[in-house]
Amino acid sequence: MHHFRYVSHKLHCEDVDLAAVAQLHGTPTYVYSAQTITDNYRRLAASLTGLDLRICYAMKANSNLAVLRHFANLGAAFDLVSGGELRRVLAAGGRAQDSVFAGVGKTEAEIQLALEAGVYGFHVESEPELARINHVAGQLGRKAPIAIRINPNVDAKTHAKITTGKSENKFGIPLTVAAEAYAAAAKYPHLQLRGVQMHIGSQLTTVAPFVEAVEKVLPFVQQLKRDYGIQYFSVGGGLGIVYQDALASGAQAWWDAQPAGERPLTPEVYGAALKPLLAPLGLKILLEPGRFLVGNSGVLLSRVEYLKRGSGKNFLILDAAMNDLVRPAMYDAYHELVPLVRDTARPALKADIVGPICESGDCFAKDRTLQQLGEGEYVAFLSAGAYGYTMASRYNTRAMAAEVLVSGARFELVNARESFETMVAGEKIPGFLKT
Ligand code: LLP
Repeated sequence: MHHFRYVSHKLHCEDVDLAAVAQLHGTPTYVYSAQTITDNYRRLAASLTGLDLRICYAMKANSNLAVLRHFANLGAAFDLVSGGELRRVLAAGGRAQDSVFAGVGKTEAEIQLALEAGVYGFHVESEPELARINHVAGQLGRKAPIAIRINPNVDAKTHAKITTGKSENKFGIPLTVAAEAYAAAAKYPHLQLRGVQMHIGSQLTTVAPFVEAVEKVLPFVQQLKRDYGIQYFSVGGGLGIVYQDALASGAQAWWDAQPAGERPLTPEVYGAALKPLLAPLGLKILLEPGRFLVGNSGVLLSRVEYLKRGSGKNFLILDAAMNDLVRPAMYDAYHELVPLVRDTARPALKADIVGPICESGDCFAKDRTLQQLGEGEYVAFLSAGAYGYTMASRYNTRAMAAEVLVSGARFELVNARESFETMVAGEKIPGFLKT
């Protein structure tokens, strides 16, 4: 659910008319709803009450400092994957001490930074990484708290590029050899075995793979608790969101109308299935949700530049492109597109929705039907709050988009559109080219 809806035919985010945001700050601009993030966070936490729960927001989904501060204010910790993300947590006033550091390729410098910040756990993905963390911790005279990421070899049944829990993926240590990895870790003098972790993939729309994975690793987790006194079990993130009917799914009525058995995964279903498995462990349970918390909390505003009528095909050419929102080009992902001003009296338009970038892959949607639109009118891509801005690039020397946070009737620019000067600030023409 979310707080994007039409009020008198004008698309609003909470109590803000999005056309006002587009006019004031230009486009392309990402807009996030603080209340939607709050609701999602509280709903997920409520679905797992009774557990000793810590939500570590997977900030790779959206790492704007204002968004991070909002999460910190809600009581969230963070799941981070780089030194840069750690510095963002610190800059936003988040608690690094409650946060976890994941990723298959942590550098020595990143490990040092994380040790100094006192992160709650390093999520280790390989045996050489154990040795490296031990080495860096030894140099600093510290003990590094670690959890090994277990790869349970479960099919998450999601897009190939975002499935992570199969043995052919680069992630984690297979369950079959995990006991040896823990035994090896226990021998390192500068490591402290604090937990165990897994994450099987992203955008999961059924609960079965989560249950299968947890059930599979449960005996091993119990064993670790007995052998090493571990404190926590992180079950990762991965809860999916609604992309197809994104606007309608903002309202409870839409959920109620879904036929039983076809309703997309909800935190309540997730909680009801996992709580009975996790509660008896008597461990702290960590969740690492990214998309669920922010995905439907954000939209990308864009302006129509041209309607190009081709032979047998129309192209709606926007000022947003694959550099701003890469998911359609990269994963064939579907994002609903809606006009900021709805006019049901207009005829329908069937068109490919494209950006201005010089390649055919710069296409958001093929043969999409929406109301007739023309130059200067605004549209919004929905469900763009997760993996939108964070995956954006400057391809074609297009500046990074602006970001705005809404709360009730207030909205504020939380990231200014990039200027040409900052885009090229690190570049220079070397002396040997100057004639
Ligand atoms: N924990 C770990 C270890 C992860 O690798 C990820 C995501 C998460 C948590 C958060 O997963 P979520 O709750 O957001 O599903 N760029 C892709 C998604 C990549 C996900 C990578 N890992 C997309 O746009 O669909």
